Amino acid sequence: MNVSDSELVESLLIKEGYQPTTNINKANLLFINTCSIREHAEDKVHSQLGRFNLLKRNNPGIIIGVLGCMAQSLKHDILENKPYVDIVLGPDSYRKLPDLLKRHEFDNKSLVDTKLSKFEVYDNLFPNRKNGVNAWVTIMRGCDKFCSFCIVPFTRGRERSRSIDGIINEVKSAVKNGFSEITLLGQNVNSYNYEGLSFHVLLDKIAKISGLVRLRYTSPHPQDITIELLKVMAEHDNICNSIHLPLQSGSNKILKRMNRTYTNTHFINLAKKIRQILPNAGISTDIIVGFPGESEADFYETLNVMEKVKFDSAYTFKYSPRKGTKAMGYDDQVNEKIKQRRLEKLISLQSLHTKQRNENFIGKIEKVLIEKESKRDERKWSGRTDSNKWVVFEKEDAKLKDIVEVYIKRTSGVTLFGEIYKKVKAA
Ligand code: 5AD
Ligand code: SF4
Repeated sequence: MNVSDSELVESLLIKEGYQPTTNINKANLLFINTCSIREHAEDKVHSQLGRFNLLKRNNPGIIIGVLGCMAQSLKHDILENKPYVDIVLGPDSYRKLPDLLKRHEFDNKSLVDTKLSKFEVYDNLFPNRKNGVNAWVTIMRGCDKFCSFCIVPFTRGRERSRSIDGIINEVKSAVKNGFSEITLLGQNVNSYNYEGLSFHVLLDKIAKISGLVRLRYTSPHPQDITIELLKVMAEHDNICNSIHLPLQSGSNKILKRMNRTYTNTHFINLAKKIRQILPNAGISTDIIVGFPGESEADFYETLNVMEKVKFDSAYTFKYSPRKGTKAMGYDDQVNEKIKQRRLEKLISLQSLHTKQRNENFIGKIEKVLIEKESKRDERKWSGRTDSNKWVVFEKEDAKLKDIVEVYIKRTSGVTLFGEIYKKVKAA
């Protein structure tokens, strides 16, 4: 979401005559797009702002801006303790940036706009994308789910969906500009609802756009995964066979306290249904350990769900208390040592499952979209299967963005390794 928002801001600034630079010492504007989902993300922003301040000491004309989620929650702290910050803009205020920059030229005062909107979806404002294989297209913003640990409903505001026409135009233009893959984005993509049309209808329409090689989306909420959605995914070859399904916890007691609105049985059955309708679908997840009140038995229930579902991969987090959220007020917080121990246990179980799931691919032929050169070896390409697994193989005569069939020979655990069997589709 942040990459996509940064591309929007870049597009606004380019219209105003600014140019991006990769040399920070040459920049007149230094903006940081922030995330406040966990404390660690916020810490990184504070240290980056410290670096910006040093640059400004040598060049006082530099304008420093804090954009996005943290702007919303930390505007007082930023204004009181970081006087070198000139502009603070929340995630619904990016359109005001050109105006604010002009105002700043006149009075040189710090400017703040963090109001959240019920309507802003940045329709008709196309992001400025770098050349590449994948284009992010935001389809909805905000979240109404109010999971008790999560700050997003407060920093990004109410759920709202973009028009189908706006989205389709943006996808068509990205495909025309050479992007092979589109990833639809939203805090809660599958609660997309525009004038009564739901997510699976949108997905079906986008999959039919000619020239679109691959279509992905993230992140859905398990509660809103419907059979219709799975059927649309099964019907279209270009919709990737992968789903990110955030579990958060495997204990019903904790799920209830998290306000996740499903039980562990519902989740396990949903994962089964997904693999029934979409055989070999890659399922990834998000899991939090150490949520307030999580006992050892609750934690074992999470491990138990992991054993039953066998996720292909997982993003794992220690619970991080966020100001203003319900869970922050719970008095049975779990101590850091226990959180760390549980996290390590979770990571090691997931590594085992990732390896097991990947070993199933050995000896098979997989269609891979070539996305980049392998970081470790310039003679090799790196690309993803439609189930979202990275595969590395000798380049031979294949090019970037080609789709090739790769014979999978081995796995290191996370990555698959193979050799080109056949070129199926040239870019
Ligand atoms: N602490 C830890 N993890 C969190 N997430 C969201 N809020 C918190 C928090 N307060 C995780 C959830 C979510 C992912 C994007 O970040 O797992 O799915
Ligand atoms: Fe946060 Fe996702 Fe829950 Fe919304 S659904 S409150 S974004 S974790």
